[in-house]
Amino acid sequence: MPKPFRIGIAGLGTVGTGLVRIVQEHAALLDARAGRPFEIMAVSARDRKRDRGVDLSAYRWVDDAQELASDPEIDAVVELIGGSEGLALDIVRTALANGKHVITANKALLAHHGFELASLAEEQGVSLAYEAAVAGGIPIIKAMREGFAANQIKAVYGILNGTCNYILTEMRETGRSFTAVLEDAQAQGYAEADPAFDVDGIDAGHKLCLLASLAFGVKPDFDALKIKGIRHIKVEDIAYATELGYRIKLLGIARRGDDGRIVQLMEPCLVPTGSPLGAVEGVYNAVYVEGDFVETSLLTGKGAGERPTASAVVADVMDLARQIRVPTFGVPAQELEQAAWAVTGETRSHYYLRLHVLDRPGVIADVSAILRDLNISISSLMQRGRDPGQPVPVVLLSHETCHADMEAACEKIAALACSVEEPCLIRIEEL
Ligand code: HSE
Repeated sequence: MPKPFRIGIAGLGTVGTGLVRIVQEHAALLDARAGRPFEIMAVSARDRKRDRGVDLSAYRWVDDAQELASDPEIDAVVELIGGSEGLALDIVRTALANGKHVITANKALLAHHGFELASLAEEQGVSLAYEAAVAGGIPIIKAMREGFAANQIKAVYGILNGTCNYILTEMRETGRSFTAVLEDAQAQGYAEADPAFDVDGIDAGHKLCLLASLAFGVKPDFDALKIKGIRHIKVEDIAYATELGYRIKLLGIARRGDDGRIVQLMEPCLVPTGSPLGAVEGVYNAVYVEGDFVETSLLTGKGAGERPTASAVVADVMDLARQIRVPTFGVPAQELEQAAWAVTGETRSHYYLRLHVLDRPGVIADVSAILRDLNISISSLMQRGRDPGQPVPVVLLSHETCHADMEAACEKIAALACSVEEPCLIRIEEL
C-alpha cells in the first residue's frame, strides 16, 4: 500500500469547502490518478459551528491554524485564509520552514512575498504551489510553467477578474450604470461587500504579477504595477466602443519590449469585438499568451467560485502526491531577475478619447490644436448630437502615440472653458 499524501486545510470558506467536497465526491478517482491515497488529516477555520454543507466529522479540528504548519502528520498545508500579511503569511512561512509543501490560492500573498517564499521553499526542498491563485479553474500556472516551457514568451494578456468582466458585460447588455450593476451583483452574492479589490483592479493586478514572473523569469513585483480599475467606465463609453467594433475589458498586460524592458499594466482597454479576448464575457476569465514557438494560445474558463477554484487546488495536491516538483516561478528562485520595468508614460498605443464639450464654434479647433502641439494624430473623430451651446459627446481615436502625451492632452483639454467633464482616456489593444 503506497504511503498516503496527507494535507491540512487552513480556512474553510468557499474554496476550502469546495476542496473537502471534491475529496469526498472523487476519493477513488483521485487516489487512482495520484497512485496513492490522499487524506485530509486536519482542518481549521475561525468558526467551528458554521454549517458548511459538508461533513467534517472525519477530520481532526484544529482551533489554531498555525498548528497545522508544524503538525507531524501533515505533508502539505493548504492555505485558504487569504490576505497578504498576518496569519496566512505566518502559516506559509512556518510550514515551509518546517519542510512542508504549501498549496495556496492566495495571490496577494505571492504578489507581495513570492520571491521570499519561493526561496524558502527551495531551501527546504519543498514546493509552493498556487494554481488556484490565478484565474481559478484555468490551469494557467501549469501551462506557463510547463506547457509553454519551450518558449520565449513575448506577451501575456489576461482578463483576470470575473467580477469586473461580469459588470462590464452587464453594463453593455443592459445599459445600466456601473453602480447599478455592482449593487445588483452584491445583492446576488457575485461581488464582495467591499468590492474595492475587484473593481479597482487590485485582485487582477496580483494575478498579473504572478503571470509576469512566470513569463519572463523575473521576481513578482506588485509595486511596479500600474493599476486602473473600472469605476470610471460609463455606459456611453461601452456603447461607443461597441459602435467602433470594440469591447471594453479590464486587461492585464505583461509584455517585453524590443529594448528588454517589461510593460506591466492593469487597466481597462478597448479590444476588438471579434478578438479572442473580446469574446470573453460575463464571469469568465481568459489568458492569451504569445510565445516564439507556440505562437498564440488562449485559455479560458471560470476564474472564481467554489468548484472551479477548488478544482485548481486539487490539481496542485495531485502534482505533489505524484511527486511532480517544479520551481515556484518556473526557474530556481535565485535565478529570478529583477525586471527592468518600462515607464508607463513611454508606452505607445492607439487611444480612445471621449470628451464632453460645449457645442459651439472653434471647440474642435481648440481640441485638435492641443493634439497637434503634442504631435498626436487623430485617426477618427465623431460628435454625437447637435445642441448649440450645450454639452455634446465627442469621441476620437488616435494613431499610435505615447501615453504621457495622451495624458498631457487630457489635462489640457479638461482645462478648456468648453470642456464640461473630465475626458475619458482608454488604451486600445489590437490583439
Ligand atoms: N474576486 C475574484 C473575481 C475571484 O471576481 O474574479 C478571486 O480572485
